[in-house]
Amino acid sequence: MVDALGIGVGATIVLFVVVLHFSRGTEWTPTEDISNDILERRASTVPETDFPEPMNRSIGGGGVAAGAVGAGSEGELDDGEGEGQAAGDDDPSAIPDDEAETYEIEFVKEGETIEIKENTTVLEAGEDQGWDLPYACREGQCISCGGHITSGGHAEDYVKHHTNEMLGDAEMSDGYTLTCVAYPQSDFSIETGESP
Ligand code: FES
Repeated sequence: MVDALGIGVGATIVLFVVVLHFSRGTEWTPTEDISNDILERRASTVPETDFPEPMNRSIGGGGVAAGAVGAGSEGELDDGEGEGQAAGDDDPSAIPDDEAETYEIEFVKEGETIEIKENTTVLEAGEDQGWDLPYACREGQCISCGGHITSGGHAEDYVKHHTNEMLGDAEMSDGYTLTCVAYPQSDFSIETGESP
């Protein structure tokens, strides 16, 4: 008798819990996903710029701006390439390898003569040989990479300085060159590590 009562009470409780579970389950609605709204609101507070933004600022308006700028800058690049080529007309490094003339350069102190293309600097070619040649700025703005062309005459009879902000005509007349920006135009001999 007692057992039957217990079973009855237990069954009633179980039934109640089941009914309660399903009634709550059917009434539950998922919380609205507002993350995109928040991201868009944040993006609208970020001023649009003319340059691509990092990813976290590219959400929403920023993303559109970055994409648009990306496409635009590609166009600008195309234009710029034309300009670059025009500007690079006197840049020997822009000469394609298969069109570049090759010259024989004797490195006196290193005791070797190597071939250097006219699109390669004397410094780069020497480094490719594994020689520890002096340099600092690599842009013609110091004198660290100086070398002395010993073939006689003006340095620019033998090399083209793409940039040279250090050597005057008097020094170049004595054969001095900046190897980091010196592109061969002829065969010659050079002593590296020599400055006026
Ligand atoms: S390393 Fe500075 S001028 Fe060549």
